[in-house]
Amino acid sequence: MRIVVTGTKGQLAQSLLASATADISLIAVGRLSLDFERLQSIAPALAAADPDVIVNAAAYTAVDQAEAEEQRAFRINATAAGAVAAAAKKLGVPVIHLSTDYVFDGNAAAPYRESDATSPLNAYGRSKLAGESNVANAHADHVILRTSWVYSPFGQNFVKTMLRLGETRNTINVVADQHGAPTSAQDLARVIVAIAKRLCETPDDTVLRGIFHVTGSGEASWAQFAQAIFDDATAHGRNRVNVVPITAAEYPTAAPRPKNSRLNCDKLAQAYDLRLPDWRASTRACVTQLLDGASGQ
Ligand SMILES: NC(=O)c1ccc[n+]([C@@H]2O[C@H](COP(=O)([O-])OP(=O)(O)OC[C@H]3O[C@@H](n4cnc5c(N)ncnc54)[C@H](OP(=O)(O)O)[C@@H]3O)[C@@H](O)[C@H]2O)c1
Repeated sequence: MRIVVTGTKGQLAQSLLASATADISLIAVGRLSLDFERLQSIAPALAAADPDVIVNAAAYTAVDQAEAEEQRAFRINATAAGAVAAAAKKLGVPVIHLSTDYVFDGNAAAPYRESDATSPLNAYGRSKLAGESNVANAHADHVILRTSWVYSPFGQNFVKTMLRLGETRNTINVVADQHGAPTSAQDLARVIVAIAKRLCETPDDTVLRGIFHVTGSGEASWAQFAQAIFDDATAHGRNRVNVVPITAAEYPTAAPRPKNSRLNCDKLAQAYDLRLPDWRASTRACVTQLLDGASGQ
């Protein structure tokens, strides 16, 4: 099976590339041949990679910057995502597209289900929500995976930021009134490969198509996530860092974030019998990879 992933240096693209096995080839197609801001580049670049499944992991992910660049975020996250799905349809292969918890406003008390009403608070969330409908409208053979708080040894993410700040600070203020589920891109990559296989084996199974939530198991606030990272770093000989819980109001950002980012992942478990490991164990594994100097970039 040939899985073709969009983007090369992204967290998920890198994690997918590391999941290649003897019988599963992972091919990343990056900006040299496929540029989401040049729509005409998309179909030829994907066709040339000869996929059995396409994973659309490339996206405009600068959440705060998107407030000032909403049109650009829409071109990449909505228009280009639709073009990727249209290319997959033309090639007769399924598409797996990534979306986000930020399609919700976070006002619900419970973890969000796939059927809950969407209402993004920020430009990034609006662009990703438009991407979901463009993908679904372009190609029935799709899986849209909404995930949250992604981290890995690759690219830019919260774990790497905390470890960097912890090198020079004893105390860090971190938001404690937003809750979600930290998600390891490496865990996500394993699940995506399993989903890709099932899609190829069952071309007509509508139960396996549609929107699914997939995050690390369990939940945390950003402050709890930070504390876990520093606890793990201490076990690797780093100095202890004190996390001071603050409110989101005390840490204003250009883009507002939902207070409740928790996603209910039961639908994926029922359809595919797949769940991601607990975020706590996967965070420890990521910190270990980064501080042992293995594979971090
Ligand atoms: N990170 C999170 O916390 C999070 C949370 C929820 C959902 N998601 C979603 O999960 C998916 C994967 O996220 P990630 O964390 O792996 O993202 P990431 O690390 O920010 O990587 C984004 C990728 O998109 C590519 N890209 C950006 N603009 C492009 C363009 N114009 N043309 C072609 N490629 C372009 C980048 O290309 P280069 O390789 O050239 O840099 C990079 O490979 C995305 O759909 C994201 O929206 C992420």
